Amino acid sequence: MKDLENVEKKFTREETIGLVKKIWVYIRKYKKLVVIILILTTIMGAFQILYSLFWAKGVVNLTKNDFKQFILYFGFFAILWVIHAVFILINNYLYSRLERNFIVDMKQKMYEKVLNVGVNIFDNKKSGEIINKVSLEPNVVLNNLNQIFKMFVGLVTAAGFIIFISILCPLIGMYYLIALIIIYISFKTNGVKTKKIQKSIRKSDDKVVSILNQSIQGIREVKGLGIKESILSRFVLYLSVLRKKQLKNTDIQIRFIISISIVRLVIVMSVFITGGWYVYTGKLALEYFLLIDGYTWVILQQFEQISYLSQLVQGLNVSLSRIFEVLDDDVYTIEKFGDNNVEKLEGQIEFKDLSFSYDTTSKVLENVNIHIPKNKKIAIVGKSGSGKSTLFNLLLRFYECKEGEILIDGINIKEFNEDSLRKHISVIRQEPFLFNSTIKENLAMVKSGATFDEIRESCKIAYIDEYIMSLPKQYDTLIGEGGVNLSGGQKQRIAIARAMLKKSKIMLFDEATSALDNESQYNVKKAIDEVAKDHTVIIIAHRLSTVIDCDEMILLDDGKVVARGTHDDLIKNNEVYGKLYNVDLING
Ligand SMILES: Nc1ncnc2c1ncn2[C@@H]1O[C@H](COP(=O)(O)OP(=O)(O)OP(=O)(O)O)[C@@H](O)[C@H]1O
Ligand SMILES: [Mg+2]
Repeated sequence: MKDLENVEKKFTREETIGLVKKIWVYIRKYKKLVVIILILTTIMGAFQILYSLFWAKGVVNLTKNDFKQFILYFGFFAILWVIHAVFILINNYLYSRLERNFIVDMKQKMYEKVLNVGVNIFDNKKSGEIINKVSLEPNVVLNNLNQIFKMFVGLVTAAGFIIFISILCPLIGMYYLIALIIIYISFKTNGVKTKKIQKSIRKSDDKVVSILNQSIQGIREVKGLGIKESILSRFVLYLSVLRKKQLKNTDIQIRFIISISIVRLVIVMSVFITGGWYVYTGKLALEYFLLIDGYTWVILQQFEQISYLSQLVQGLNVSLSRIFEVLDDDVYTIEKFGDNNVEKLEGQIEFKDLSFSYDTTSKVLENVNIHIPKNKKIAIVGKSGSGKSTLFNLLLRFYECKEGEILIDGINIKEFNEDSLRKHISVIRQEPFLFNSTIKENLAMVKSGATFDEIRESCKIAYIDEYIMSLPKQYDTLIGEGGVNLSGGQKQRIAIARAMLKKSKIMLFDEATSALDNESQYNVKKAIDEVAKDHTVIIIAHRLSTVIDCDEMILLDDGKVVARGTHDDLIKNNEVYGKLYNVDLING
């Protein structure tokens, strides 16, 4: 997996620059804002030197008993202070505007991309990983870029000051230089350690979010299977791994900060003693000594900040590469559709010489040839794992069929554009997914501008209108969290109504009725029969008894079509079907 590669990978400078260039394309939109923020930050950096200068000048005048001059410099100091405060305010305001715009923009782009990638990506990407990438990384990127820039400005002003001091007093300049070299070397070694640990922390974090997400989604299984304890202990395990890694990271950083602090102490002592000696021997003016004195703290603060630079740059690299894993097409490949906008459909389907495998190892479908005439009700039956749902997956283009083809009304499904393919085919599963909003909204979302009458009409066909009307809030009833909990059969009938509203000509039912009790099954069956009058309906069913009245049955075995015909034909002529039916009778 790409992400694991990222953890091991070292980012070269070129890669970092490449990533920053790539993100610039997205920040460029806010160029003006960015430039103003950069200018303000730079000016504020220069203020640091001026503060020290005014302070030094003021104090020197005081030693000369010139109180007026002292007050003058103190006044400059105060004015600078006010301007600085105003700049900080403006900068913060502009930055938060940039932050909001950029982050919303990025998240929207990433989410849009996630919605447009092929379903196969979700087979091996954990949902927690995707959620984390979209919800977290853009924030990290902007925050790190901002901090890195601030640090950069700080370092540039410090460098300017060091040059100035070096001219006045080369020995003190050299102390700074030595300090910088030592800090640079420890910064390098620290960077390598930090990089590794940061990425591995991020991976652990994905795992924690993923297990949280999965157990919430599958809370019924978690409770029903009685695996609360084991899930909890897995969660705790992941958390403790995460904590260990975070502690290790803190450890690395603390050691680094300690070594920097020692350098700092030695430098401060050396600068003071040397500077003091120069003033004493008349080689350095007192005001410059005071300036050096005041500014040394700022410089050392900048040196200390370097300890965070490696973290920030590495964090930025990781976040950017995770963002671009989603935005680029290498891993998150966009689904491809044709450009034929098929308006009207008869609903005739043909699977032609179709062979398919998810991975290249074993064939799931082999040379399947099925012709389904329009407005028929067809059942696909066969043992578990025989490839029934795979047929649907291919018809819906969730996966690409490379061998053979699927035609609808004689048109290869690859030619359909996304809208027309999605409009004409609907699938109803055992537990259809309904959104946490009202019944009306759940229905209306498939057809913009649908009138209430249309919505009700489709619900009537699906035999669910009567039930909805019996609820206190009727069509405005909230589904799920904080609202009504629908039964499996009711959800299915809403899903059928949703498909009807979409005016899908082809309706696929995957094991829809197998988990329902007799009464619900009867209701859903009534709905399906109503729909089947002028729609092409394909039903995958485990329990043959629910589909024996279909126009035709297709028996799949090990990815091959082994028989087709009406129930009566098959029961007489096909041994495999007979066995399947008998097992069904015994279980049913
Ligand atoms: N996303 C996937 N990635 C890899 N293999 C898959 C995937 N989905 C299904 N398979 C494999 O393909 C084979 C056929 O699966 P399919 O879901 O089509 O069977 P099915 O007939 O619908 O079974 P069931 O009646 O249990 O639903 C199985 O061996 C399954 O393990
Ligand atoms: Mg299946």
